[in-house]
Amino acid sequence: MSKAQIESQIGNVKLSPARISECLERVAGHRLEGFLGGYGKFPGSLMMVGEAPGANEIEKGIPFCGQAGKVLDGYFEALNITRNDLYITSAVRSRPYKDKIIQGKHHAERSSRSNRTPTSYEVFAFAPILDAEIEAVQPRIIITLGNIALQRLLGKGHQVSNVHGQAYRSRIQQVDADHMDQGYHWSDQEYWIFPMYHPAAVLYNRSLTDVIANDLVILRKCIDEIQE
Ligand code: URA
Repeated sequence: MSKAQIESQIGNVKLSPARISECLERVAGHRLEGFLGGYGKFPGSLMMVGEAPGANEIEKGIPFCGQAGKVLDGYFEALNITRNDLYITSAVRSRPYKDKIIQGKHHAERSSRSNRTPTSYEVFAFAPILDAEIEAVQPRIIITLGNIALQRLLGKGHQVSNVHGQAYRSRIQQVDADHMDQGYHWSDQEYWIFPMYHPAAVLYNRSLTDVIANDLVILRKCIDEIQE
């Protein structure tokens, strides 16, 4: 991506274009496209971390503006907040994709592009960006959406199916952007982490609707208690 393209999608925490370029260089040659910055209120008490942008998000330059975003709007309604009340970002900032060749009966061979889950390396490669956003936002509560965001912050041993709907006071995984070879280390600062299912999960598993509704009631109470 050119410097101008990066700068147009930098998000409203003004990240260093050089840092962004470094992250993109780390994943050069991977099946990733575009770049999307985080958006919302900062400094601010609430931060939401998703997985990675999809095709709609990269095209429009807005986080969670596709199908999962519609479900996420339902989360906001249940919490009685709007997108302007929090900062929204994701673990990976480019769209991970895969291409499939489709051999049509009635049309010529064509290729179809779909989203894929980012690899652990890709999450790590973008880690300096999320770290910088957390530093700028200084959230009281970080809501993780799905396993990728949860494991990025709390480590590989966690599964959203086991820990959703509860607040955890914890250090989080961070990197030293100038010494990426050292891998993750634990932050000095502790944060409240509230793991939730990713809104896309309900599109595949409708039975999660009630579970998520219940988690949102608990989250609303946590926001009231922690923000006091
Ligand atoms: N999933 C994410 O994690 N982020 C988006 O912006 C869209 C879908």
